[in-house]
Amino acid sequence: MKDLTEVKNYEYSGEKVFEKAKDFLPINGTDYVELFVGNAKQAAHFYKTAFGFQSLAYAGLETGMKDRASYVLQQGKIRLVLTSSFDPDSEISHHVRKHGDGVKYISLWVDDATAAYNETIKRGAKSFLAPLEVKDEFGTVVKSGIHTYGETIHLFIERKNYKGIFLPGFVTWKSEYNPPSKGFKYIDHMVGNVDLGEMNKWASFYEQVMGFANLVTFDDKDISTEYTALMSKVMTNGNGRIKFPINEPAHGKKKSQIEEYLDFYKGPGCQHIAIATDDIVSSVAEMRKSGVEFLHVPGEYYDTVGNRVGKIEEDLKVLKTYGIMVDRDEEGYLLQIFTKPVEDRPTLFFEIIQRKGAKSFGKGNFKALFESIEEEQRKRGTL
Ligand code: FE2
Repeated sequence: MKDLTEVKNYEYSGEKVFEKAKDFLPINGTDYVELFVGNAKQAAHFYKTAFGFQSLAYAGLETGMKDRASYVLQQGKIRLVLTSSFDPDSEISHHVRKHGDGVKYISLWVDDATAAYNETIKRGAKSFLAPLEVKDEFGTVVKSGIHTYGETIHLFIERKNYKGIFLPGFVTWKSEYNPPSKGFKYIDHMVGNVDLGEMNKWASFYEQVMGFANLVTFDDKDISTEYTALMSKVMTNGNGRIKFPINEPAHGKKKSQIEEYLDFYKGPGCQHIAIATDDIVSSVAEMRKSGVEFLHVPGEYYDTVGNRVGKIEEDLKVLKTYGIMVDRDEEGYLLQIFTKPVEDRPTLFFEIIQRKGAKSFGKGNFKALFESIEEEQRKRGTL
């Protein structure tokens, strides 16, 4: 495999990095994210209530699906699928028993799922699903898939000849419970946690197999507190619509949040999904009202943040009320906040992000953020 040092020095520097990404795998965007969960009906209710997702589609016993139930939710361009199995020996049930509720499919929208499969397999991807046509009266979808970190899968979804609500086999889900949107538009990035020493392997996978480029690298000097450390490489596709940061634990005095995740997820997996809003204050205000818990940002954070980020349009007092953090790069600033884990296990969580020009990931907030996570780990006895 080609050494990554060539792109390692490619610290974020505007558009140039995207030229490094190869175009043998054109991706239009994220098609959907599917979680395998213990109880899809209840999970769907949570994501509608807490995150403002809307009911879109359903497949289950009533639609002829004999072995599982899937609920599809939508908000802006984000589609979230929640699936539970009726069969204790199914792959879904094994996944839930091992990992708890977690992300199984990170599905990518492509114009040609056969070419996407062939190109990535040729470059060393492990096959999950050879190109498969699925049809109903609304047309044809071509699906294919490859393995990524842990038991996570990238599906390629080709839907240019399909007019149905979601995928063949799904029907429109009409619900009488339709809480309003909380303002989410699209998935900004999805982060994977991998084992110690594996970050470069998976960064190489995204580079070699999927044609991504390294947008930015954070080492343990960037991301460490007194106790814990991690390293991260952000990989992006050619048009920048897909960004996958890859984290690995680094040695610190105590157990890092990445090790905690790996211990509880029982291996590598998706750590967080960052979803974008145009109005983070109202999104977060509404989520808090609906019972979503966020990481606590110490009040002192707001004493110095103004000096660090300069003038912003928002009132810092309001940001402090909701615990929203701010960071700035050469191109603008961003606002962000992190939920606590959304399952019983300290595994998957969400980031809420509003970009005002900035294309970075909130490096200036890492210290405050990780101290806050350590506080949660201390309560869990896992630090
Ligand atoms: Fe993030």
